[in-house]
Amino acid sequence: MDAIRWKGTALALLDQTRLPVEEVWDDYTDYRAVAEAIRRLVVRGAPAIGISAAYAVCLAALEHQDRPGDFRPGLEAALETLAASRPTAVNLFWALDRMRGVLEAQGWTPQAIPALIREAEAIHREDIAMNRKMGKHGASLVPKGARILTHCNAGAIATGGYGTALGVVRAAHAAGHVAMVYCDETRPLLQGARLTAWELVRDGIPATLITDGMAASLMAQGKIDLVFLGCDRMAANGDFANKIGTYSVAVLAQYHGIPFYTVLPSSTIDLTIPDGKHIVIEERSPEEVTHFAGVQTAPEGVGVYNPAFDVTPHQLLTGIVTEKGVIHPPFREKLEALFG
Ligand code: MRU
Repeated sequence: MDAIRWKGTALALLDQTRLPVEEVWDDYTDYRAVAEAIRRLVVRGAPAIGISAAYAVCLAALEHQDRPGDFRPGLEAALETLAASRPTAVNLFWALDRMRGVLEAQGWTPQAIPALIREAEAIHREDIAMNRKMGKHGASLVPKGARILTHCNAGAIATGGYGTALGVVRAAHAAGHVAMVYCDETRPLLQGARLTAWELVRDGIPATLITDGMAASLMAQGKIDLVFLGCDRMAANGDFANKIGTYSVAVLAQYHGIPFYTVLPSSTIDLTIPDGKHIVIEERSPEEVTHFAGVQTAPEGVGVYNPAFDVTPHQLLTGIVTEKGVIHPPFREKLEALFG
């Protein structure tokens, strides 16, 4: 299962806004359209955003290949446009930095194009490999018969393939350890209902969909054994941003004594910021809250607060699953030692 395919001179993206009803792939040859696709959540999920942006830099380079004089300004403009698409997931900036690094090393000329394409493909390939490793490390935490709660979509389509939190679920399921995966529907844009439930059903993994407010009740009934979810940016102390509602799940898990893990590749770690207060949280359009599938569900004139992410303090984390293994507190020292 995947959502991003490089076709040599075009980027194909699975339109995630149309799932689960339609599976539509569109080809992109203009980096500006990829930036817009990232902004509209056609492609979303921290690693997938970074990978798509890397390929979009290749599209920008191809666009300017016959105009060497415009190459550097054209590529600088592309890097800037892509960086402005979404602010929270650090994978976007990490991938653009890698692409800029290639241009610095090779020179800002059309001759750099093969190296740019190789780099984007490496970013994509490495992401899948990291997911597989996280799957293996995370699965070691999952006891037989586990009932797992997840929030949002940290699956194959949020990454290069396989998934972060859902990679752990996939590996644990392959080991025969998963009894049930509860998916929070994840208001307002329903990534849990539309995307996570779709991935799990397609893979034949037992899945139950709940609305976000139901998690507490399930936990109180003793029906959740573990929580695994994704991450958009982790600060040096382990505080992390993820889909809005993650913090609520973390508080609930701690209250009920349920292990709570985030699963993330090193490309999601931002050691340049000391803690979660420094993470920029994207605010999205009020219509995402006042309308449901295009139908107005709130009165005109009401105020709306619509942050796409929240920050969970590291004190609520049982552990962090990375491609280098599972990290337990104290996080700051271990993150620095492993990824500094
Ligand atoms: O707004 P989205 O759908 O891009 O938010 C995605 C999430 O919050 C994911 O949990 C996170 O990016 C990790 S994806 C492996």
